[in-house]
Amino acid sequence: MTDSAVIDIRSVTEDDLPGWTRTWGNGYLRPYTDGGVDAIRSTAARDRLIGAFDMDRCVGTYRSTAQELTVPGGAFVPVSAISRVSVAGTHRRRGLLSRMVAMDLRGAFERGEPVAVLDAAQYPLYGRYGFGPATAMAWFEIDVNRARLDPRRTADTSGVLLVDAREYSKAAPAVYERLRAVQPGTLRRDELWWQEATGQRAGSPSGRPEPFFALHLDPVTGEADGLLCFSAEERWGAMLPQSPLWIRDLIAVSPQAEAALIRFAVTTDWVTTVHLPYRAPDSLLPLWLGDPRSARVSALSDYMWLRVLDTPRALSARTYGVEAELVLEVTDAAGYAAGTWLLEGGPDGASCTRTRRAAQLRIDVRDLGSLYLGDDSATRLSVLGGTEELRPGALARADAMFRTGRRPWSPRAVLGPRYQAGAP
Ligand SMILES: CC(C)(COP(=O)(O)OP(=O)(O)OC[C@H]1O[C@@H](n2cnc3c(N)ncnc32)[C@H](O)[C@@H]1OP(=O)(O)O)[C@@H](O)C(=O)NCCC(=O)NCCS
Repeated sequence: MTDSAVIDIRSVTEDDLPGWTRTWGNGYLRPYTDGGVDAIRSTAARDRLIGAFDMDRCVGTYRSTAQELTVPGGAFVPVSAISRVSVAGTHRRRGLLSRMVAMDLRGAFERGEPVAVLDAAQYPLYGRYGFGPATAMAWFEIDVNRARLDPRRTADTSGVLLVDAREYSKAAPAVYERLRAVQPGTLRRDELWWQEATGQRAGSPSGRPEPFFALHLDPVTGEADGLLCFSAEERWGAMLPQSPLWIRDLIAVSPQAEAALIRFAVTTDWVTTVHLPYRAPDSLLPLWLGDPRSARVSALSDYMWLRVLDTPRALSARTYGVEAELVLEVTDAAGYAAGTWLLEGGPDGASCTRTRRAAQLRIDVRDLGSLYLGDDSATRLSVLGGTEELRPGALARADAMFRTGRRPWSPRAVLGPRYQAGAP
């Protein structure tokens, strides 16, 4: 076996792409296709692709993309969004992941990206690199027969329009942009993303089963203010329909749009169960049903993980619940976010500067990631030891500043055939 020190961690070249794509597919249990290489090639100029190479053989993959994260107050913070992380089964537990993360975080810091984010496939992996869980997700399963929605009340779903992929992909970006402007935790979805998601991109594989698409139109302006993409399966038991319906994407910028789209899905004839994954845990969706208890939470999990790389830039980009100041000592084994910082913030904005004043709160960079979008509380985090109150009252003050009225949410669209398995 090759000594891990001689395994090269480097940027990927055009020639490496087939091997890189195959290694990634092995890691994610996805069969190799030439289309997969083309998809990676089309984004290679924009993204940073890293690989681990044993001689010329690719044994590790890693990608990061320049993204924008909405933070409390509505600012878009430039972030490095990490994905496609894998190490070949033959080369695991030899530090290759750690080396790829180290190379990429250094690059992100040098490029001036104050924050990095990722969806962690496994919980234990990323805390050691300074990431903390920053948004959570709830997976709802609605028992249609208990939802107490009367399918004869068509007023409940007024404004909903079934459309094809083309019409949907035209309306969708503007609706999503309206959500992104106000929803902490969201990332950008550009036009290419929408074309790919709806099979509208030139060269998209044909013959892929198309999901169903619906819009909700604002009754006053006639403009789309909600999007619903779903698939369903025709399933019968002795003359009784038992069809599941899976919501792949649901974006709404008004409560009316959300209520109408959910009620539309739940009152679809033949459907007995509606699966609604990746919603904010404080989603109001159960309350749009006749009986909210018909929406059971079948999974509740951490979702997006976040690592602060530049404390003053990250903390001064968001707003805070109350006008206050707090002196924070941030500990960070890798050094990027470390220091003692004076945070002065409130509902209209904030500043964060290095200070010589005595710290009131000591916080590890992982906990700062969990606090940043307001999803966790300093008081809660202090129980686990990564956050320490150095001056009485500092935990309560941090809670009042960082917490938000509604939880952050990172919407995820579930695309492709994998979703049909229905497992969270
Ligand atoms: C997860 C994966 C990338 C780890 O790669 P790796 O090169 O073996 O990781 P490293 O050797 O650099 O391990 C770094 C640390 O994480 C730990 N670790 C690695 N995989 C782990 C796992 N599955 N569970 C718990 N700890 C793990 C190692 O023990 C090591 O700990 P240490 O620093 O305390 O010694 C690899 O196992 C893989 O490809 N898995 C399948 C795909 C996947 O889950 N990718 C992540 C997508 S977000």
